[in-house]
Amino acid sequence: MSVAKKEYKRITVKSLIEMKQSGEKISMLTSYDYSMAKIVDAANVDVILVGDSASNVIAGHETTLPITLDQMIYHASSVVRAAKRALVVVDIPFGSYQSDSKEALRSAIRIMKESGAHAIKVEGGTEIKGSVGRILQAGIPVMGHLGLTPQSIYKFGTYTVRAKEEEEAEKLKSDAKLLEELGCFAIVLEKIPATLAQEVAESVSIPIIGIGAGNGVDGQVLVVHDLLGMTHEFHPRFLRRYMNLYDDMSEAISQYVDDVKSRDFPNDDESY
Ligand code: KIV
Repeated sequence: MSVAKKEYKRITVKSLIEMKQSGEKISMLTSYDYSMAKIVDAANVDVILVGDSASNVIAGHETTLPITLDQMIYHASSVVRAAKRALVVVDIPFGSYQSDSKEALRSAIRIMKESGAHAIKVEGGTEIKGSVGRILQAGIPVMGHLGLTPQSIYKFGTYTVRAKEEEEAEKLKSDAKLLEELGCFAIVLEKIPATLAQEVAESVSIPIIGIGAGNGVDGQVLVVHDLLGMTHEFHPRFLRRYMNLYDDMSEAISQYVDDVKSRDFPNDDESY
């Protein structure tokens, strides 16, 4: 189905709701630094997520738990400097919003003030409703995240598909409704059955952005390093790789090493 695309100079939370209403799918990708965000933004990606996946992709940790609020603010401010069109959403990291709603608000304010980002993302539903409500009351747009929520990996035990059982699917549906009622502007659904994701997308008026959640939702998000094939050891079923940058980069860098060793680089034209 082809849908007329409206031209946006700057994507806002309102633009995303309009896209859902008009049937235009929303594109979202991660970025953690200025150079990557510049390319992602120029390619007209609607939303740039400064994901706490930076903990895995950039810092090499096994989980998203170790990344700190200060580190997220550093990544986010680099991305904000590059993004001229995209809405920039920043993950509130593990440990900076779970204790109480005051702490959650303080962390959200720090992200908005110190990075210049446009919105924050939180993982969870009813367990964090006090914090979500308080952040929203301060005028900070909040994106939810349900399904596989990597900050709770030690509770789940694995990264397998969530909400396959009735009870968990029912909780996910009611959490999505709750986040909508509280005033969240969008929700990410990660690694859940496509039929469930579509049902949720049809039951709420805010955009549902999927990762491993099928094609019946309002938009898609991927980690940009996965899409480019830089994280070559990670190949979940939901991932479409558009490049194999790991191999291309390895080849280029090996060539450089050879050229230095053989004294081919630099040549006269590359010297002063
Ligand atoms: O941190 C992240 O990159 C995310 C996406 C996988 C949605 O939360």
